[in-house]
Amino acid sequence: MFKQAKWSEPLVFELGAPGRIGVALPEVDSEVRRVVGEVKIPSSMRRSSPPRLPELSEVEVIRHYTRLTQMSYGVDNGSVPLGSCTMKYNPRIAWDIAFNSEIEELHPLQDERTVQGLLEVMFELQKWLASITGMDICTLHPAAGAHGELAGVLVIRRYHEVKGQLERKTEIVIPDSAHGTNPASAAMAGFKVIEVSTGPDGNVDIEALKSVVGDSTAGLMITNPSTLGLFEEHILEISQLLHEYDALLYYDGANLNGIMGYARPGDMGFDIAHINIHKTFSSPHGGGGPGAGPVCIKERGVSSERGIKLSDLLPGYIVYYDEERGLYRLRGPGPYSVGLLKSFFANTVPLLWAYVYILMMGPQGLRAATEHAVLVTNYFAKLTSEIRGFELPYGRGRFRKHEVVLSAKPLADETGVTAEDVAKGLLDAGLYAPTIYFPLIVKEALQTEFTETETPESIERYVARLREISEVAYKNPSEPKSWPLNTSIGRINAAKANHPRHLAPTWRVYVKRLKGEIE
Ligand SMILES: Cc1ncc(COP(=O)(O)O)c(C=O)c1O
Repeated sequence: MFKQAKWSEPLVFELGAPGRIGVALPEVDSEVRRVVGEVKIPSSMRRSSPPRLPELSEVEVIRHYTRLTQMSYGVDNGSVPLGSCTMKYNPRIAWDIAFNSEIEELHPLQDERTVQGLLEVMFELQKWLASITGMDICTLHPAAGAHGELAGVLVIRRYHEVKGQLERKTEIVIPDSAHGTNPASAAMAGFKVIEVSTGPDGNVDIEALKSVVGDSTAGLMITNPSTLGLFEEHILEISQLLHEYDALLYYDGANLNGIMGYARPGDMGFDIAHINIHKTFSSPHGGGGPGAGPVCIKERGVSSERGIKLSDLLPGYIVYYDEERGLYRLRGPGPYSVGLLKSFFANTVPLLWAYVYILMMGPQGLRAATEHAVLVTNYFAKLTSEIRGFELPYGRGRFRKHEVVLSAKPLADETGVTAEDVAKGLLDAGLYAPTIYFPLIVKEALQTEFTETETPESIERYVARLREISEVAYKNPSEPKSWPLNTSIGRINAAKANHPRHLAPTWRVYVKRLKGEIE
């Protein structure tokens, strides 16, 4: 069983001593000085005193970060079945290529003739993503799924603006099973969010949808398969209904890995789609670091008099091949585009990772990844259906795609042991918890997604622990409240941890809080 280490590790700011140093930088030689010249920072931009940075020796740095990794858990330790997040194993071959110094040392302002190889790879990736999603054109520009969503709804906004109907097109319809980023993106783009309910079969309640879609509908955002892991069976009817009102259909591609190689949003009537590279195509999630959320569209006319097409509205840059010059080049945002949503072209490291994954898998491999993900999900769902205290709400009897949402409501009602307690019981046994309390429409939700690389044995181990937790809950319901006992950090106060008043995003804020200088 995996056990986290329990170091009482100080913050890096609390380690070291003034003047201690871990690197030996070379002297700037006269040649460098001649080429670069004297760098003069204007006095207005200089600080009066140097920033208080940690000063540590090399070995202190190595030990500090090694100890932190020993207190942690990741997909290299075991499965991370966090539903919706799709924590795929990150193949090492892609690591070698993406973290190559020849890539890392490139500069975004470099002359395009010196980065032809990288641009060609990005050009290919644009085409592959368009083909996998059944769309026509992709931009790799956005930096995450949620960023792609914002880009997509801004395209919807611009679409209605160019057509002179934005005043009336004020609403975006979103199912109640959606990820929180969907309504957040729609609201950020200035739309009113209209929620539509899910029926007991797990599909959007089509009558409820018909009652809210109308002249003011600008678009609909939906993920398919849904966050319940269920394929939306009315998708063609939904797209027809939306298009009748000249509303655009937006595909949240976070769950593309549930249908990849088998079905394509472009064939379902979607106009715009984002792809979470770090989910479907195995790039690391990177702890909130630079990601990529390409946006793809199905080409369609927006204004025939002005010759504007949907692709003219896309944000950021698109790589194209300039036949005349024989060069791959970047086309920046035109006059009708949503504009730049970040500096420069795109975060190329996660994109390269995706390129390697797709190249390595090939079309058959991508289909096989989907098949395995669906197989392990349904194997898990079948095994857990026999455990006392858990049930499968929505779509009873239907096969799941890439993920499944269990409910621990019977367990909570009968013993007082909640989904959170179950999650802590999993952590305690050296396993990783599923996503809990999401989607919001499922009471005591445990949203579980193993991904394609998990073996039957690892699923069986997980299910055995769930069975053990259920047995403990019915025998001694107070025991789960003390879990976890075997992790580096015990049970935290989740409500307090989520409250912005208790956040210390910087060292300075942390120290001020400690001294009681700020609340
Ligand atoms: C269904 C769904 N949509 C959108 C997102 C947002 O993607 P990202 O985390 O890349 O911003 C997520 C993230 O987990 C998701 O699960």
